[in-house]
Amino acid sequence: MLINLHTNRTALTLFAVSQLLMLSAVNAQTVDPVTMVNAFEAAGGKFEGFRRSGAKGICATGEFVGSADGRNLSSASVFSGQKIPVIVRFSVGGGNPKAVDNAKSQRNMALQFNIPGGETWQMGNISAPVFGSSTPTQLLGRLESLAPDPSTKAPNPDKVKAFAEANPEVLLQGKYFASQPVPASFATVNYWGVHAFAFVNAKGDKQFGKWIFEPAGGVMGLSDEEAKAKGPSFLFDDLRQRVKEGQVSFNFNLQLAEPGDRLDSATVPLPESRRKVTLGSLKVTAVSEDSGGACRDITFVPTVLPKGVEPSNDPMLAARAAPYAVGIGRRLSEGSKQ
Ligand code: HEM
Repeated sequence: MLINLHTNRTALTLFAVSQLLMLSAVNAQTVDPVTMVNAFEAAGGKFEGFRRSGAKGICATGEFVGSADGRNLSSASVFSGQKIPVIVRFSVGGGNPKAVDNAKSQRNMALQFNIPGGETWQMGNISAPVFGSSTPTQLLGRLESLAPDPSTKAPNPDKVKAFAEANPEVLLQGKYFASQPVPASFATVNYWGVHAFAFVNAKGDKQFGKWIFEPAGGVMGLSDEEAKAKGPSFLFDDLRQRVKEGQVSFNFNLQLAEPGDRLDSATVPLPESRRKVTLGSLKVTAVSEDSGGACRDITFVPTVLPKGVEPSNDPMLAARAAPYAVGIGRRLSEGSKQ
């Protein structure tokens, strides 16, 4: 029975991914996914068997309980109020599986809600309110500008500067990270979805918003001295300890968009004054023992959505499924490492 459920869910996910690949192919703003993944490898290095982004990660499991506000906004059964099993993957930004934990860089929280009835909801959330580019073409240009010059083995600073000056959005995320402390834990930082999504209820009312997973115990960072003392590899042990103590939970909050708000950009957050509602609570209850775990062969495609939640027309959102499929294809054929 378990095997059947798993098979059905995998088949559904593959079906969804194939549909999204077709959608991506007709989206004129989409960069060829193979070219895009090659550009990730050229800029960030190639590490066989690992994700081309978010390579250093750890898999966990947990449960989500939806709220009355969630049920008012969306008919999705994930908000029923029953415990929904969730696969959680925390990671450090970038393609290097040895990325250091004590830098002012990106942390990620990818989720897969396994909803009774066979629906799946996948997300890849990041520890910044904005992504590093607003269109796939701009992302490709940024990656190409960051690729090491073969003669110097380092990015050409003139190229990096010229691209950033012509595309100032690409600097916003780095400025945000520079303004924040190093996160004390995967469990003490906010994770944003950065794209707008629509929440549709049983009456057909549609509310757009952008979500943030906020740690129930509050945000905590390290001072520069503390970060140095922690060293390059403390996040996994820290997570295990906090989960053992039952301390890792997040409120799933939605900022409600108002008429006139930009809904098509991952580099323009909603105004801070927008009302926030809590759609439910996510609790992480177990961490996988080794680098395997349920996450290893999953790619978290943010357009795999349950009925009652719909994508916005952000071009970056539609452009994610195809390169993720290329990414998982490569790492599976290389021998998936985590
Ligand atoms: C066209 C734009 C994008 C491209 C080409 C891209 C590409 C990729 C690739 C190739 C992976 C590795 C997938 C795998 O091997 O399973 C990945 C992972 C990831 N991406 Fe993106 N990405 C894009 C946009 C974004 C945006 C806007 C966000 C922000 C929310 C984001 C967040 C993540 C996260 C959190 C992961 C790690 C997920 C995990 O733990 O498996 N990406 N991305």
